[in-house]
Amino acid sequence: MDLVHGQRASELFQAQSHLYKHIFNFIGSMSLKCALQLGIPEIIHNHGKPITVPELISALQIHPTKAGFVHRLMRLLVHCGFFVTTRVHMNQEEEEEEAYDLTPSSRILLKDNVTNLSPFLLVMFDPVFVSPWHFLESWFRGDKVTPFESAHGMGFWDYADQNPDFNDSFNKAMASDSGMMNLVIKDCKPVFEGLDTLVDVGGGTGTCARVISEAFPHLKCTVLELPHVVANLQDSLNLNFVGGDMFQSIPSADAILLKLVLHALSDEECVKVLKKCREAISNKGKEAKVIIIDIVINEKKDEPEITSTKLFFDMLMMVVVTGRERHEKEWEKLFLEAGFSHYKIKPLFGLRSLIEVYP
Ligand SMILES: C[S@@+](CC[C@H](N)C(=O)[O-])C[C@H]1O[C@@H](n2cnc3c(N)ncnc32)[C@H](O)[C@@H]1O
Repeated sequence: MDLVHGQRASELFQAQSHLYKHIFNFIGSMSLKCALQLGIPEIIHNHGKPITVPELISALQIHPTKAGFVHRLMRLLVHCGFFVTTRVHMNQEEEEEEAYDLTPSSRILLKDNVTNLSPFLLVMFDPVFVSPWHFLESWFRGDKVTPFESAHGMGFWDYADQNPDFNDSFNKAMASDSGMMNLVIKDCKPVFEGLDTLVDVGGGTGTCARVISEAFPHLKCTVLELPHVVANLQDSLNLNFVGGDMFQSIPSADAILLKLVLHALSDEECVKVLKKCREAISNKGKEAKVIIIDIVINEKKDEPEITSTKLFFDMLMMVVVTGRERHEKEWEKLFLEAGFSHYKIKPLFGLRSLIEVYP
């Protein structure tokens, strides 16, 4: 083989490997889902120490003919960073065996953890979320508003309204994502200082508002949500729920919180909601603000893996709803169009930033 031809062949084989990796990306996701459904993270956690393959097999409720397949599932998930292997002593004769332990990425799937993202993982594999991807090409060619609408014949929020089981799973998934706020809200004291009232617009079943109201008990929090989301929720001392539509009216307050709401909306919809927010805080004067917790794309500063995840979210927003992920300049344009004068961005929460927007 001559050198030029050899180089070209090696490039093509590399390209093949790159292509196949992306074709097969779903295998990593589906294997992780399977491990969660089999209860593997909980089994390892309850074992209290790294677990060997025979110990794992005996704890799993699987058919005996499948015992020999477990280590193959685990090998991939170790490779993907969801478990690690270590060596443990099996007896006094210093005999060692391979054993699996959790990593931070599987620990955040444990049920009793403050941060348990398993409801988020499971809902993303619900056929309701998966089937719209099969309509992406026809959506590009046709006039439907979203691929979700092509797949289900209606928009996402109407679908959630009409399908109580899916609504419940989706709200639990969002609540699990909001549970992560527990880790940082206490460090955000200056953001909430000087405020007496806050409305969490599109606040789901109130997880984020609850975290805030517990961290800052002087603050009276209200969650404004679609009626089907808050229908059966109980008010507590400094947290209450209001059913309504953020495009129609937002209760007045010192500050409005929008967590992962604007990224689900088009630019026009964002400006409408932001204008309603501005009206809602108009009594408080200069101290009033809108607090946004959402994604800001920043390819220059972010690690490539963070950017990939943000771009996946962008596609998700395109397929499921009418939203998008935005660069800082795109956020700024929305704030100015809605009549706000300035803003501050803190990249606080891994994928998400906290943006304070002032009238
Ligand atoms: C992506 S979820 C975010 C939930 C919550 N803020 C969180 O981060 O966990 C968007 C929320 O906006 C709510 N929503 C959508 N349209 C709305 C509207 N017109 N008025 C009020 N809430 C709305 C949805 O019901 C949903 O709970």
